[in-house]
Amino acid sequence: MSTEISTCIWIHNEAHDAASGDTFDTTNPATGDLIAPVARGAAADIDRAVDSARQAMASPAWRHMNPHKRASLLWRLADLIKENADELGALETQDNGKTFFESRKVDVNSVVANFRYFAGMADKIQGETIPVPGPFLNYTLREPVGVVGAIVPWNYPLSLAAWKVAPALACGNAVVLKPAEQTPLTAIRLGELAAEAGFPPGVLNVVPGFGDEAGAALVAHPGVDAISFTGSTEVGKIVARTAADTLKKVSLELGGKSPNIIFADADVRAAVRGAGTGIFYGKGEVCAAGSRILVERAIYDDFVEQFAARAEKTTIGDPMDGTTRLGAIVSEAQLERVLGYVEAGKNDGARLVTGGERAFVDGKGNFVTATVFADVSNEMTIAREEIFGPVAAIIPFEGVDEAISIANATEYGLAAGVWTRDAGKALRVARDLQAGTVWVNTYNQYDSGSPFGGYKASGYGRDLGVQAALDKYTQVKSVWVAVDG
Ligand code: NAI
Ligand code: MG
Repeated sequence: MSTEISTCIWIHNEAHDAASGDTFDTTNPATGDLIAPVARGAAADIDRAVDSARQAMASPAWRHMNPHKRASLLWRLADLIKENADELGALETQDNGKTFFESRKVDVNSVVANFRYFAGMADKIQGETIPVPGPFLNYTLREPVGVVGAIVPWNYPLSLAAWKVAPALACGNAVVLKPAEQTPLTAIRLGELAAEAGFPPGVLNVVPGFGDEAGAALVAHPGVDAISFTGSTEVGKIVARTAADTLKKVSLELGGKSPNIIFADADVRAAVRGAGTGIFYGKGEVCAAGSRILVERAIYDDFVEQFAARAEKTTIGDPMDGTTRLGAIVSEAQLERVLGYVEAGKNDGARLVTGGERAFVDGKGNFVTATVFADVSNEMTIAREEIFGPVAAIIPFEGVDEAISIANATEYGLAAGVWTRDAGKALRVARDLQAGTVWVNTYNQYDSGSPFGGYKASGYGRDLGVQAALDKYTQVKSVWVAVDG
């Protein structure tokens, strides 16, 4: 375990201060303590990072690297992440407030798997030969897009960085990664580990800083060919608009207000558990959080009672403690936002069954108790807007048609869950839901091979999976060759 926390901008495999010399503080939301001042990257640092990435794209060392070698570097990086898993997990927990169980056992392990999955893809990217008429050979090449700007949020700092960096590097691109200002530390460490793995200078640069400074400069930079963004719908629209000026390829993974539909014929115990994980895992700071729980009337009262009991067992505590189930909300601003939505729920006439309070651990930290609102109507603010906190809105319904119509009555379309023992009903609902992911009798399942992204205001483009990686991180060249005689 390294004893010092890395806080610099990582460009060309070297640590740099910000050109301005400025820093910003990153704090531990469970204690309010300063973790470290971090270099505050801005336009001048983005220029430097993009320059370095362009050099990497022009250098034979990266451009013409044997794809087997590229695969082995990705695999080596996965090994290094695994070797440093405890350190990375602890760093993530300190910076974000999520439990160590989540950051170490879930996030870091999935990041290792993710780099291995895309290592496996690196030497299998191939074109086609097309049977064209005439004396010609026509074939296609899958080439890298070039320099990819990756902008990630604070809820899954390392995982979402990996979702973008691993496929982008597998396809031979260079990356400038801009982590969220709330949680920059594991991304910086990822840059260092990539250098240690043997990636040439410029292949992965990491510029911590604020969205309207470093982030905006990256999106506007003419030397960047593609932007892969995960964050709020509001900023996603700004990104798309700005990127249009330089015609960058853009993919956006944005917010959600995902419905988790529980029919009367479901295994109710399993559904209570799944709905609990759906909204309380990761403190509810999850883009796919099942924040609208739609429950069929016949089991409604029973479900609300069991679900509230489960919420009350979702205990707050020190995120490093193995018995803690609910960590600290990432920042004070986010805490205020969440508590504001609790007030909105009460004012709109929803029934607060449990939770809804600020809490402290040892007198400190940004904690909110697991919150359950029942008797919510789909028109209320807490059913329409993304809260990004441990706040469940339970909405009653009658029958399949009403369930589908409530589920789809949202601007978002990221994910959805459906719980029933009737396979035909499950498949019909899965077909009719407007969502990029549907989970049947489960929730929050992810795999490097399964594409993830949104319908409607939840964005466009997909992360994960081979096809999504090819779509986002390669471009196709068609070559025509006149064949003699
Ligand atoms: P945000 O969208 O501002 O931040 C996400 C990333 O975008 C960060 O790295 C940020 O620095 C960057 N960014 C911000 N403004 C930018 C700009 N003008 N140009 C380029 N990059 C920019 O999200 P924020 O404000 O931290 O959270 C607000 C709400 O957004 C949350 O309460 C939640 O509802 C939603 N959200 C959704 C996420 C998701 O995974 N879908 C992730 C984070 C937030
Ligand atoms: Mg922001």
